[in-house]
Amino acid sequence: MREYRILPDSEMQRQNEYRDKVRDLSNTARDKRGEPLRAYVQTFGCQQNEADSEKIAGMCVSMGYEICHEPAEADLIMVNTCAVREHAEKRALSIIGQYKHLKAVKPDMLIGVCGCMVTQEHRKESIKHSYPYVDFVLGTSSLHRLPELIYTKIQKGKRLYCPEETEYLVAEGLPIHRESSYRAWVSIMYGCNNFCTYCIVPYVRGRERSRRPEDIISEVRELVASGYKDITLLGQNVNSYGKDAKSPDGEVYDFADLLSDIDKIEGDYYIRFMTSHPKDASDKLVDVIASSKHVAHQFHLPMQSGSDKILKDMNRHYDTEKYMRTVEYLRQKIPDVTISSDIIVGFPGETEGDFEATLQMLRRVRFDMTYSFIYSPRKDTPAAAMECQISDEVKGERFNRLLEVQNEIALEKNKPMENKVIRVLCDGPSKNNGDVYSGRSEGNKIVLFDGDESDVGKFVSLKITRAETFALYGEKIY
Ligand code: 5AD
Ligand code: SF4
Repeated sequence: MREYRILPDSEMQRQNEYRDKVRDLSNTARDKRGEPLRAYVQTFGCQQNEADSEKIAGMCVSMGYEICHEPAEADLIMVNTCAVREHAEKRALSIIGQYKHLKAVKPDMLIGVCGCMVTQEHRKESIKHSYPYVDFVLGTSSLHRLPELIYTKIQKGKRLYCPEETEYLVAEGLPIHRESSYRAWVSIMYGCNNFCTYCIVPYVRGRERSRRPEDIISEVRELVASGYKDITLLGQNVNSYGKDAKSPDGEVYDFADLLSDIDKIEGDYYIRFMTSHPKDASDKLVDVIASSKHVAHQFHLPMQSGSDKILKDMNRHYDTEKYMRTVEYLRQKIPDVTISSDIIVGFPGETEGDFEATLQMLRRVRFDMTYSFIYSPRKDTPAAAMECQISDEVKGERFNRLLEVQNEIALEKNKPMENKVIRVLCDGPSKNNGDVYSGRSEGNKIVLFDGDESDVGKFVSLKITRAETFALYGEKIY
C-alpha cells in the first residue's frame, strides 16, 4: 500500500457545510435583487495557477455565484497571484490597488487575494496594512477553505488572514469550472522539493505531494468522455511524481507508470505534461512516450543556463552533458519531437563567458521554442543574497542577444514544416489578428489559417504554406 497525503474527508465535509450555507445566502440575495450574485476570478502566473483558478471558480459556482468576466459586475473578486518574478507581483498589486475604486461604489463587494504572492508573510502584511478594502487573504495551502472564509467574512464582517497549514495536503474532489471545453489542465501533484537557488516556489507551494493515480486517471477518463482533446498534466516537477508515496518495500508508481496507464484510455486526444526537471527525466519516460498512442511529441525541458558553473550555483543537479544526453535520447526515440525550454539570463555571477556558453547550448540543442526570463531576485532565496548581482543594463542586453539567436533557430526549425500536412486543434480567431483562426499543432506550435466558427475545439488538417519564427500558416485540406 502506498500512502498519499490527502486532506481528510472530514475537512472536505466541513467545507461543504460552509459551501451550503454560503449558497443559501447567495440564493436569498439573488431572490431579493432578481439576478444571481457574480464572481470574477483574475489569474496571474503559470498554468498551475490557472488550474487553481478553475477550482476557485468551481467553488464559487458551488456557492451560488455565476462567473463573470468584468470586475465591475462582480459581487466577489478573487485575485490569484504569482510570486515567481517581481513584475508579476507588481502587476497584481497594481490591479488590487485599482479595485479600491470599484469597492468604493459597491461597498458590499467582497475582495479576496490568494495564491503564491500572499503566501509570503511580508506580502500578507503589506495587504493588511496598505490595502484595507481587501476582505480576506488565503495562501496556497488553504485554497479549499474558501467557503469557510467567505461565510465567516459575511457573518462576522472582520477582515480575515488565513494562516498557512502546517502540512500541505492534497485537497481531492474540489469542483472545477473549466474555461475551455476541449483543452484541460489536470494537476497531478503540488509543491516542489528542489530549492533551485533563484526560485520562490518551494517556499510558497510547500513540499511535493502527489495525487492518487486512480483519482488522476478517472479525471482524465471523464475529460476524454466529455470531448476534451488536449489534456496537460501539471506539476512543478512531474518527473518526481509518486516519489513521496513509496510503498513500505520502497516501490514507486512513477510518472512513466502514470503516463502509460493514462495512455490506455481510448479516444482521440493528446496528453501533454509540464514541467520536467532535467535531473530526473528518465529513459523510461522517453520510452513510454515513444511507444504511446496519445502522448504528444513535445517536451518542455527547462535548461535555465548553458554554463555548468551557473547550473551548479542554481542548485540544478545536472550539467550540460547530462542535458545533451537527454535531448539526444529524446530525438533518437522520437525523431519528430519538439523541444522547448526556459532560460534565465543575468543570474548572479553570470560572466560574459557563462552567457556565451548559454548561447552555445542554444545552438547545440536547437530548441523549437524558449521562454526567456531576466533574473529577478526573490526575497529570502539564496540567489538574492549572492554577490555579483548583474546590472539591469547587462541583463537587458543579454536578453536581447539571446532572443536574436533563438529567433533565428526557431525560424530554421519551422521552415521544413512548409508543404507538410499537419493536424491542428483550433482555438478560434487569433488574438492578434481576428481575421484568421489560430490553433496548436501536436508539437504545440501556433498555426494560423482561414477557419470558421465550426472549427473551434476540433482537429483540422492543414497544409503548411508558410513558416515564420513565431507561427506557421496553413490552408485547410478537405
Ligand atoms: N527570476 C527569473 N526567472 C525565474 N524563473 C523562476 N524563478 C525566477 C526568477 N527568480 C523562471 C524559470 C522557471 C520559470 C517558470 O520561471 O526559468 O523555469
Ligand atoms: Fe507563479 Fe511559480 Fe506560483 Fe506558478 S508556481 S503561480 S509561476 S510563483
